[in-house]
Amino acid sequence: MAQMDLANSTIADIETVTQPTHDEIARQRFCSVLRRHAIQDFATAVEADYRERVAPKAGAPATRWREIDKAMERENSYRFYSTLRYNAQEMCFLSVQPEVERALPDLIAVARDAAERNPAGGSLRLDPALAVPAYVTNLDVHLTPGCFHSEFTEDDVAQGAVVSLGSRVFTAQQSHRSWGGVARVISRWIKAAYPDFTPTRMLDIGTTSGKNLIPYVEAFPGVEAHGIDVGAPLLRYGHAVAEHAGVPVHYSQQNAEHTDFPDGHFDLIVSSFFFHEIPVWATKKVLAECQRLLKPGGLMVHQELPAHDLVDAWENYFWNWDTRNNNEPAYTAFRDQDPIALMADAGFDPAASFAHILPDIGAYPDRTAAFAWDEPGRPRHGKGGWYVFGSRKPA
Ligand SMILES: C[S@@+](CC[C@H](N)C(=O)[O-])C[C@H]1O[C@@H](n2cnc3c(N)ncnc32)[C@H](O)[C@@H]1O
Repeated sequence: MAQMDLANSTIADIETVTQPTHDEIARQRFCSVLRRHAIQDFATAVEADYRERVAPKAGAPATRWREIDKAMERENSYRFYSTLRYNAQEMCFLSVQPEVERALPDLIAVARDAAERNPAGGSLRLDPALAVPAYVTNLDVHLTPGCFHSEFTEDDVAQGAVVSLGSRVFTAQQSHRSWGGVARVISRWIKAAYPDFTPTRMLDIGTTSGKNLIPYVEAFPGVEAHGIDVGAPLLRYGHAVAEHAGVPVHYSQQNAEHTDFPDGHFDLIVSSFFFHEIPVWATKKVLAECQRLLKPGGLMVHQELPAHDLVDAWENYFWNWDTRNNNEPAYTAFRDQDPIALMADAGFDPAASFAHILPDIGAYPDRTAAFAWDEPGRPRHGKGGWYVFGSRKPA
């Protein structure tokens, strides 16, 4: 606690409360590089093995991802790659657990201080009676030990720290990933595509610890920013991050399928990496809730994985790995959906809806327009661009 002064009006930086040892830092760097090697370099080598050695045995490359799945299942290249990717994923989160455990009382103290004082003017609203959906509680989603919601002690923030610090290990070494980068990509595109639109109140669904909310507030100064999630430790942690940053953000523990916000409460609703983690029936409920919460003239933008129809068999095979191997059972079913049709079912006008790739700021600093699917040289999702779908509600 030596570095903290809880009597001061600013909140300590919860992201630097843990103190990894030399060996832990070395392990985390190794995990970052190992994961990048598995998911980028090794995946490229496995694709070459498929195209050059495995596919010719069947006569021609497959046109459907399940055929590739079947052909590669017993190949050593795939098995080694898959084992490496699984272990690298798990190790990223495990690598931060010891430092979180050691610092837990201090982490909790900082989060409590933020919740009591709210010097930045944000808020934290928890609901201990909330029934966290079984699709979150039944398994450690994407191999994060303890998942998003687990609480082991009073006012626990451990999972907030594990998810936030572990995700930094997970995304380090990947040139196309930057912290909160998706929010910067989406807000830049909103300004270019809808110059008449300035949000006044926004909602981030499945916000985790709200890493995207601060960039949205920076992009749209004065916007009243709300983030909801079912995991209380994530929200406690994120609230402390925002209060330390001096950015007012309102966090509440709610199920996005049915929130307690009034009709038409938001003019911007966003999410990122959210829908592929929930079953399709829940996606339909969340989109219906977005329709209820969005003001006339409001905009909804969800960053997600591209639907099956939009990418080739190999890319589908690559993405769908997570369904069986990464505790993300809804992944393939979500990608089977046509997002425009899903939004239409929820009452959004298909003529005002979109599904396309937005240029990443790092890769395309001067381009703000979305990439059309048939545009030559369009970047792949996650490699120079991000797939988004959404709609604008008629004024
Ligand atoms: C992969 S994380 C999203 C990550 C974050 N948006 C980002 O861009 O890094 C999915 C989040 O959705 C939350 N979640 C899952 N089901 C939910 C629901 N029904 N309502 C609200 N949040 C939910 C999880 O707790 C988790 O924090």
